Amino acid sequence: MRTTIQGVKVPALGFGTFRLAGQTCRDSVLHAMHIGYRHIDTAQMYDNEEWVGRALATSGVGREDYFLTTKIANGSHAAPNVLSSTDESLRRLGVDYLDLLLIHWPIQTVPLGETLEAMLALQDQGKVRHIGLSNATPSIVAEAENHARIFANQIEYHPLLGQEHLCGMAREHDFMITAYAPLAMGKVADYLVINEIAAELGVSPMAVALAWLLEQDKVVPIPKATSEEHIAENFTALDVRLSPQQIAAIDALPKDRRLVNPSHAPDWER
Ligand SMILES: NC(=O)c1ccc[n+]([C@@H]2O[C@H](COP(=O)([O-])OP(=O)(O)OC[C@H]3O[C@@H](n4cnc5c(N)ncnc54)[C@H](OP(=O)(O)O)[C@@H]3O)[C@@H](O)[C@H]2O)c1
Repeated sequence: MRTTIQGVKVPALGFGTFRLAGQTCRDSVLHAMHIGYRHIDTAQMYDNEEWVGRALATSGVGREDYFLTTKIANGSHAAPNVLSSTDESLRRLGVDYLDLLLIHWPIQTVPLGETLEAMLALQDQGKVRHIGLSNATPSIVAEAENHARIFANQIEYHPLLGQEHLCGMAREHDFMITAYAPLAMGKVADYLVINEIAAELGVSPMAVALAWLLEQDKVVPIPKATSEEHIAENFTALDVRLSPQQIAAIDALPKDRRLVNPSHAPDWER
């Protein structure tokens, strides 16, 4: 299953790698590729690009057949650092190009335009196919759109947190909402409604949460899992079809549980 963004087909379910390290990271990414995931998310700040790269290299999947994202670290927003750190990412990942390069967090110390101009230069050089943002609020997305065509905004999004404004912008401007922490880090399983729907359909609560995201235009969830069992279970979400009533029941859950909110986060209401 694929989601079309700006005419580009992106695998609709990705695989997150935050907190995966070393051989475990390599094994989990390799399991994911063997199960059928074709969209892998990493970041310079995860310190695991080399291990992701080792998995990709031995997966047997050709470079054109998977979608790979990494993110620029907070200390690398200045133009020269964007260029050098992306070269380092490419080297560690063992690839010639990235499908998507994101600014991991909006920060105040370097003008957004400077970072985006450097990313556009990488696009011109063929090192990066698409560029985008992560943790960007509506006003930051609007500012970025003055400088470049934004392909994605990767944000926290799951059944317990609403993102109506940004999802509306994504549909209107045709960019991807990459839903991070799509399982609310496992907390979706604590909710009765989600468990009831899972029981009705004979699937796991995680698959229900992912199916709710997959139903939405422009939204691509990237669950992370370590064990082969969890990785496979999450992949079953691609076959889950929720009824309008089931979607409405999940829509009605309180949408105020933001789990990722570090001190450097932007003012989310901006
Ligand atoms: N851009 C950003 O600032 C940002 C921030 C956070 C995350 N992300 C990205 O989004 C990805 C996903 O977010 P996340 O890792 O924070 O949270 P998540 O995907 O919502 O949840 C991951 C947690 O759920 C568990 N889990 C996964 N599948 C399960 C299953 N089928 N049954 C039971 N438990 C299951 C995992 O355990 P096990 O690992 O033990 O299987 C892990 O503890 C990250 O890996 C990263 O790539 C980006």
